[in-house]
Amino acid sequence: MTEIIRHEITAGKLIKALLATGEARESLFAQAAETKKQEVGNIVYFRGLIEYSNICRKDCLYCGIRRSNVNLSRYILSDDEVLEAARFAYDNGYGSLVLQSGENSSARFIHQVTKLVREIKALSGNKLGVTLSCGEQTPETYRKWFEAGAHRYLLRIETSNPDLYEFIHPPDNQHSFKKRIACLQSLKEQGYQVGTGVMVGLPNQTYSDLADDLLFMKEFDIDMVGMGPYIEHQQTPLSRFNGELLPLKDRFDLTLKMIALLRILMPDNNIAAATAMQAIDKMGREKAVMAGANVIMPNITPGVFRNSYKLYDNKPCTDDVAEDCKSCLEMRVALTDHTIGYNQWGDSRHFNVRVNNL
Ligand code: 5AD
Ligand code: FES
Repeated sequence: MTEIIRHEITAGKLIKALLATGEARESLFAQAAETKKQEVGNIVYFRGLIEYSNICRKDCLYCGIRRSNVNLSRYILSDDEVLEAARFAYDNGYGSLVLQSGENSSARFIHQVTKLVREIKALSGNKLGVTLSCGEQTPETYRKWFEAGAHRYLLRIETSNPDLYEFIHPPDNQHSFKKRIACLQSLKEQGYQVGTGVMVGLPNQTYSDLADDLLFMKEFDIDMVGMGPYIEHQQTPLSRFNGELLPLKDRFDLTLKMIALLRILMPDNNIAAATAMQAIDKMGREKAVMAGANVIMPNITPGVFRNSYKLYDNKPCTDDVAEDCKSCLEMRVALTDHTIGYNQWGDSRHFNVRVNNL
């Protein structure tokens, strides 16, 4: 495969690269690795992931914590549990943490998140970066959380194809593609570093959809990306298409190619190695790092709750405690010829260029 020239990328060329095998596939990964080394360096940043609550008002057809799933117990971490996890992140040199939860817009939840963001900033003397991933909220809520100290927000678009979006969500206006786009826009306007992403290998998803997903991220000028393979969850409605999916290892390989292409398309972006990669392949996140990712999100949720935050089947590390994850990750990153960016926010360089022209 000849080198992919960033300014000449079209949907057609992306599709061809997504289908690449043999030498062409190898050269795609080689180009992505070189781009990363040149543009952001071989550094991996850790974000401690706190799965704050699995209470969700939405009913996405693919997600294990959807409202209609009655086969799990719902929880919300206490403030002390969150702050203890935050302290673990800080003490261990993780530059930032991510507070993630199901979608909840009760006044109490919004207030609690605001308070927690403030307290996390205070306990770390402002040193811990805080990313939120709490779904669709009003611009006022986004502003409130930003003012409290959160400076990054993750909200996946899931797919950039509105028809496919409709197919994987219930047909009501609570699950609206337009609303999702409006939220991303609002987050950008509030001043957040904005992250989005998609699932790879959804039923009815085409190569053309995936190429368009990459172009969407480029056009939207996104700062951070998290893409992972779609993994079936038996207790969800989408599982009736299980027989029609690409084999898991193909979904995995396709995700690696999506990461590599995104690194070439948006060289200074932060790209996460999704935990879902590890659910398929024990070395999944490390392979994602080799393909172009530069962020890993070690789970620092208190162990007893991890089993209740199963978005998909076979979620890894649900029995671990945070310390296991840390030492196991250090060893794993060392295998990839990367260093760990301890005690740094590791902001998206793309954001600094976009906002501050740095
Ligand atoms: N497989 C893979 N990823 C999933 N997510 C939710 N359900 C699944 C699944 N079955 C992802 C979505 C969501 C993120 C928090 O988890 O992309 O945005
Ligand atoms: Fe919770 Fe989709 S099921 S946001």
